[in-house]
Amino acid sequence: MHIGVDYYPEHRSRDLWETDAKLMQDAGFNTVRMAEFAWVFLEPEEGRFEFGWLDDALEVLGRHGIQAILGTPTAAMPAWVARKYPEALALQANGQRITWGVRKNNCFTSGAYRLLSERITRAMAEHYQDAPGVIGWQTDNEFGHPYGCYCDSCRADFQDWLRARYGALDALNAAWGAQFWGQLYKTWGEIALPTDVATYNPGLCLDWRRWNSWLNVRFQRDQVRILRQVCPNHFVTHNFMGLFKDLNYYDLAADLDFVTWDNYPVWGAPEFHFDAGAAADVMRGLKRQNFWIMEQTAGPGGWGAMGRNPRPGEIRQIAWQQLAHGADGMIWFRWDACNVGREQYWHGLIGHDNKPLRRYQEAAQVAGECHRLAPHLEGTTVQTPIAMIYDYETIWAFDIQPAYGGGPFSRAQANNFHNAMRRYYRALTRAGLNVDMIPPGQDLNSYKVVFAPHLYILPDALAHRLAAFVEAGGILITDGRAGVKDEFSRCHNRTLPGLLSDALGIAIEEYEALSPDMKYGVRGRNELAGAYTAVEWADWVTPATAETLADFEPWHMASFASLTRNRFGRGLGYYVGANMAEDAFYDALIAEVMRQAGIAPTVAPPAGVEACVRAHVRNGDSKRLLFLINHTEEQRTINVPAGKPELLTGATTQPTLTLDRYGVAVIQL
Ligand code: GLA
Ligand code: ZN
Repeated sequence: MHIGVDYYPEHRSRDLWETDAKLMQDAGFNTVRMAEFAWVFLEPEEGRFEFGWLDDALEVLGRHGIQAILGTPTAAMPAWVARKYPEALALQANGQRITWGVRKNNCFTSGAYRLLSERITRAMAEHYQDAPGVIGWQTDNEFGHPYGCYCDSCRADFQDWLRARYGALDALNAAWGAQFWGQLYKTWGEIALPTDVATYNPGLCLDWRRWNSWLNVRFQRDQVRILRQVCPNHFVTHNFMGLFKDLNYYDLAADLDFVTWDNYPVWGAPEFHFDAGAAADVMRGLKRQNFWIMEQTAGPGGWGAMGRNPRPGEIRQIAWQQLAHGADGMIWFRWDACNVGREQYWHGLIGHDNKPLRRYQEAAQVAGECHRLAPHLEGTTVQTPIAMIYDYETIWAFDIQPAYGGGPFSRAQANNFHNAMRRYYRALTRAGLNVDMIPPGQDLNSYKVVFAPHLYILPDALAHRLAAFVEAGGILITDGRAGVKDEFSRCHNRTLPGLLSDALGIAIEEYEALSPDMKYGVRGRNELAGAYTAVEWADWVTPATAETLADFEPWHMASFASLTRNRFGRGLGYYVGANMAEDAFYDALIAEVMRQAGIAPTVAPPAGVEACVRAHVRNGDSKRLLFLINHTEEQRTINVPAGKPELLTGATTQPTLTLDRYGVAVIQL
């Protein structure tokens, strides 16, 4: 298993390299990622390459059994690039170029930048193709920034992209509904880059976001092509950012061997741990395969402000949560805390004093555990009958028109895709259930239950597939704004929920956004019995064939349902007609759905404990590993299957298992 750290020998004096490598080896590390910001050291002036220092670092590391993933260094252009090719710097919407001096500041259509990127990529690939210490590549670093360049080259590129997509201007005018406000285009050259997605044409904005995403995919593809050609024995990956939403990560992942991601859950409230789980599931869904962590939390982080320090045990717990969700490699960010630069306070496993203290020891403990458990983890991944549709186009369309309360021009951001996703995701986690995050195009046959939160963009083909899924016995749960728009961001001219009407057995003729000071009482029936509160959004749902599971309380809502269940063919379609404020609502809903689906969790975790199962992918082999992760700072006791080996301690389980604060257990079922 690949375990290690992000390492920057160019930040450190050479006399430290040997001790660094020795300490890494002592910790059980075998892998580093390097060089993703080292362009100016590798190509100090245009066309002159210097690999000696990196060769030396690889040699030192190699003597200690440590191999390297090299980053193509295009995330930080040298100053000479900006001086010689000023157009390589992105042009902001205000007409000013980004000033050189940070990183991630390039224009992705700049011909100079694209050629320079290919040249340094090729030079590195050729130099390291047979280097024994190099195992793979990371493209660039955290694609996604800068977002939106307004230079002439970008504008022309956008126009070309649109021409290829639509073929004829008539088609583009129709797709965007350009008759509105008299925005008809007569030549391609009239199309401009939108500077504010809250006011420009929604169809234009959605295509602009698609195109921005494509620019990053194309830029990466140029590098991948070279790496594959020159280094056929190396893997190629990229470090993704979990729930980052500006790029279509499915597309970015398509050209790679596997996905890695950067996980920093200690910035906020404890719920962030649930987000780290959701992010891991998104990462696993990008290629439907396990992933690595390329940057794992090693200490408090900050560029000025600073996050909190991981508590004793928390570095281990954060790492094991990711392993539970499908991580097969673990690289901490970063080795040392650099004593200079903007990230001086982004602390590593060792501090400014270079001492291998608590955080180092804890990572070393995890490394030892990983090596010990690697044979058990081998070939396993999360397998679940529950899926959630995670669609970037819906996320973008929602960003462009979130339909939040607070009046027509409010920019309050409560009602968005991620919050909708979280309400179900957290309830599933509380219930001890795992979920696959899937793209809208994925086959649904292997799932019993599909959640489709806020499925705003619903092309007809997807609607037909979802209805067929229900008819064939699946359970679909969807909610507010489902099926409002087509892929061009035009509202379907059908009564909502459009092509899902039969599967859901309802009609929505009216709906509204609820401003922060508006709330509707909701009363659940039967299994959903209880008092809840509708916030942010309310559909005035008229049941047709569906049964009402919850009502609205206000006088004018008396005939409308806030939760419905419909039998359609052999399956069930649920519609949640409002965002509910209470976790209890979603807990009751998940319980009801899982009862109908006949799905029971392996264990019922107490509050704050997460349970994940990784199972063998090969048929006929029943290997299953149950991971229990205590996210709390208190002991937690869990009822577990007795008489099974717990792999971290080697103990055999009793009917109950107690986890210390931040404790972790891996039970072979
Ligand atoms: C990101 C980057 C790293 C570093 C960390 C901390 O994940 O990939 O280079 O900047 O954040 O800021
Ligand atoms: Zn540009």
